[in-house]
Amino acid sequence: MSLLPGLFSPAIATAEALPPFGAEGLLPLEASAMARAHPRRQAEFATGRVLARRAMQALGLAPLPIPAGADRAPQWPAGLIGSISHSPRLCGVALARAGQKVRMLGLDIEEAEPLPAELFDTVLLADERARLSALGAEDAGWMARIVFSAKECCYKAQYPVTRTLFGFEIFDIRAEPAAGTFTATWQADIGPFRAGTVWAGRLCVTAEHVVTAITL
Ligand SMILES: CC(C)(COP(=O)(O)OP(=O)(O)OC[C@H]1O[C@@H](n2cnc3c(N)ncnc32)[C@H](O)[C@@H]1OP(=O)(O)O)[C@@H](O)C(=O)NCCC(=O)NCCS
Repeated sequence: MSLLPGLFSPAIATAEALPPFGAEGLLPLEASAMARAHPRRQAEFATGRVLARRAMQALGLAPLPIPAGADRAPQWPAGLIGSISHSPRLCGVALARAGQKVRMLGLDIEEAEPLPAELFDTVLLADERARLSALGAEDAGWMARIVFSAKECCYKAQYPVTRTLFGFEIFDIRAEPAAGTFTATWQADIGPFRAGTVWAGRLCVTAEHVVTAITL
């Protein structure tokens, strides 16, 4: 069953694929980025591009190349915005026509496993750690995995606007797994975004994956 349509509005085309991922289907403008990559990396990269073209077709568009920038971010064709994510067991893409309804998109797919406690200090703000301390060790690990994914998701959404690399301290995430929602509160002024701005996203936890999605 498809996971992604439930995380985005109908205006956004999604496409997803399960392994085995094939390395075929790249267009010439895309292939150079993967010339020296490991076969597994070639396959996940190619699967993302093939899925993105499937999403273009769903939007009624001709298939176009999506080169990778020097910063690894996808260079979407003019008028399109999208996000790609892959885990070993799922690759997914969300794509939309850029406009007043959709200005930024983020998608992150993580394997379903608790975040190791030794990563908490890197990923979590003091406030986030304090909220998790009310949970048992396993639930805290799961919640930390969701927080991690939501930060990656928001980072990807904002990047085409700010072109700024930053760390996990920039978003404070509050997740409601039962409701399938999260909020991300900006902790600093970056580009056009002001500290205190709150973004609302969606999430989904299955036996195999933690998936977070944001549309702005
Ligand atoms: C971009 C990044 C978030 C990717 O996350 P990941 O969990 O490693 O991998 P995913 O499979 O979910 O996503 C990879 C895809 O994201 C996309 N991507 C890469 N860099 C990107 C960027 N700067 N902005 C938006 N999308 C980006 C690419 O499409 C990539 O797949 P591809 O190379 O096959 O095209 C991560 O690699 C990164 O650059 N992190 C540094 C910044 C950060 O994490 N800060 C803390 C979060 S607030």
